[in-house]
Amino acid sequence: MYNAFFGFSESPFNLSPDPGFFYRSQQHEEALANLIYGVQSRKGFIVLTGEVGTGKTTMLECLRDYLYAQRIEFAFIFNSRIKPEELYEMISYDLDLRCNRQSKTDIIYSLNDLLIQQSNDGRTTVLIVDEAHNLEWDVLEEIRMLGNFENRSGKLLQVILAGQPEFDRKLDAPNLRQLKQRVVLRCMLKPFNQFETGEYIHSRLAKVGMPEQTVFPPDVLAEVHTRSQGIPRVINALCDNLLLTAFALESPVTTIEMLDEVCNDMRLEWPGRRLRVRGGFQEETLRPSPQLSRGD
Ligand SMILES: Nc1ncnc2c1ncn2[C@@H]1O[C@H](COP(=O)(O)OP(=O)(O)OP(=O)(O)O)[C@@H](O)[C@H]1O
Ligand SMILES: [Mg+2]
Repeated sequence: MYNAFFGFSESPFNLSPDPGFFYRSQQHEEALANLIYGVQSRKGFIVLTGEVGTGKTTMLECLRDYLYAQRIEFAFIFNSRIKPEELYEMISYDLDLRCNRQSKTDIIYSLNDLLIQQSNDGRTTVLIVDEAHNLEWDVLEEIRMLGNFENRSGKLLQVILAGQPEFDRKLDAPNLRQLKQRVVLRCMLKPFNQFETGEYIHSRLAKVGMPEQTVFPPDVLAEVHTRSQGIPRVINALCDNLLLTAFALESPVTTIEMLDEVCNDMRLEWPGRRLRVRGGFQEETLRPSPQLSRGD
């Protein structure tokens, strides 16, 4: 809506996990390098965790691009509220296994053939599961067993499990200790620091045709960081709404007043939030983490 007004080629703060907008903060760079290293060196199980909205799915999309480019076969399970039989069915569709897709036994034999053939060709095969914190115990157990395919040169199926931090805690449960023991690589995404938040916003604006951004002055950038607590999805929502407000007011720059209005509309909470009262500010009680109460 505001793209023409600001001269953007497309919306800079979309909420979709588009790898085209991937900002390589040091930790994102390291996490992606770790995922790729884990796959290349056939490590078996790799876990990627991060708070809601920190970029796990975006990172998996980047990995997916890498796997496509390397012509490495992979299955991507993005809906984790599934039963074991659905897990097998989804794997068989993604890997295009020629077998009876309703039969677990058939799928396992066919998968075994594919894994061996890929391995003979010097390639590996990957299973990616997003939202792994939602996986039921029995599905996790099936995934653990899929990790048992191996030959002398290493694991035949590389399994990447991405989820919220509670997934790490779930792995501590006594009945998952076999799976936990197999996890050889862990990556964690943390929210951006203030410098990274600024760079992240710059990089998104540069991508849509504004290399030297002038829309968000330093005081607004600093407040966007504080209020979003460095969480990319919240940063996107704030910046998108700020641009919309500026456009409505026909202003080429955003202001703290606009940010206040946007935060009120979004009912955004952040630690140390200060309420405007007559004659100044009043400190509000600390809240644990930023929450978007409107659809994010
Ligand atoms: N490094 C990054 N570069 C560019 N955009 C990013 C980055 N990290 C996150 N984002 C953006 O932040 C938003 C949320 O990212 P994403 O959906 O990947 O988070 P998530 O960790 O998978 O969230 P959830 O826990 O809800 O599944 C998306 O709009 C995405 O484009
Ligand atoms: Mg996600």
